[in-house]
Amino acid sequence: MQHIAYHDPVLCEETLNVLITDPNGIYVDGTLGGGGHASALLTHLSKSAKVFGIDQDDDALRAASKRINDNRFSTVKGNFGYMDVLLPSSLQGRVNGILLDIGVSSHQIDQGTRGFSFREDGPLDMRMDPRNPLSAAIVVNNYDPAELTRILFTYGEERFSRKITETIVARRPVETTAELRQAVESVIRGPHVNKSLARVFQAIRIEVNQELEMLTMALHKSVKLLAEGGRIAVMSYHSLEDRLVKHFFRAGNADGVVEKDFYGNDIRPLNPVKPALITPSEQEIARNPRARSARLRVAEKPAEVSA
Ligand SMILES: C[S@@+](CC[C@H](N)C(=O)[O-])C[C@H]1O[C@@H](n2cnc3c(N)ncnc32)[C@H](O)[C@@H]1O
Repeated sequence: MQHIAYHDPVLCEETLNVLITDPNGIYVDGTLGGGGHASALLTHLSKSAKVFGIDQDDDALRAASKRINDNRFSTVKGNFGYMDVLLPSSLQGRVNGILLDIGVSSHQIDQGTRGFSFREDGPLDMRMDPRNPLSAAIVVNNYDPAELTRILFTYGEERFSRKITETIVARRPVETTAELRQAVESVIRGPHVNKSLARVFQAIRIEVNQELEMLTMALHKSVKLLAEGGRIAVMSYHSLEDRLVKHFFRAGNADGVVEKDFYGNDIRPLNPVKPALITPSEQEIARNPRARSARLRVAEKPAEVSA
């Protein structure tokens, strides 16, 4: 049997405390993973509540279905960027809470065959959804060098992105995670190499899975799905994603600039819930190092907003 290692859900109590506004309500976990948050959520809800768990990864859906045996719970396969069409249309404007715990799961990282980890040798894959036509191998081997440099610099915040790209291009075809690792190690030497490896792998993963685009789409869709007074909680692990969420919660767009209506009133599809930012305690980080960079933000759909 396959070993399923899903770790502790990050900021679990903190998230549920702010997300649940109605224990009889309808909730959507857009990043089901191993079902850690979803199973905790179910324990806080009444018998008449409903929880829909979305994930684009079959392994995650299998693990969560095995863990959660509850007739209030249903799984949905797909990308949360399309959650409005994945969920029954009757849910539009009726969802009380949406949770997004974005990024990869520890389970995905630990499986060498998925290609997410520089610590395991495997194919250059990194697709969360196996139906995705774009893989890490395509990004690494087929992208124009200027585009690859931009990805490593923007999504990975890697200072040596140009030099790393030159080395990758000279070594093409780069076919495995070990070969990509060796390319990075030939540029960055010494104690900082693991940080650069993490940045390069993260940047390519964000591109392969179009993570910023899908998050933007999901934020827009959440406005349509939420009931008045309903809330969305987003946990991100990367400064670009966190900035996007902060801007969207403030202004309803990725730029964070509040638009005005004809009468000069602010147009805000969501209102940020205070505290604006929740981060894990020292104890949680000691227990679960993956939680270290987690940043949780929550927003509420105000009354009388037409989505
Ligand atoms: C950090 S894990 C979630 C862990 C989960 N909260 C738990 O407690 O077990 C993120 C999960 O979201 C999924 N995921 C990431 N981006 C997604 C997207 N755009 N659409 C659907 N699922 C996505 C991944 O496949 C992964 O299983």
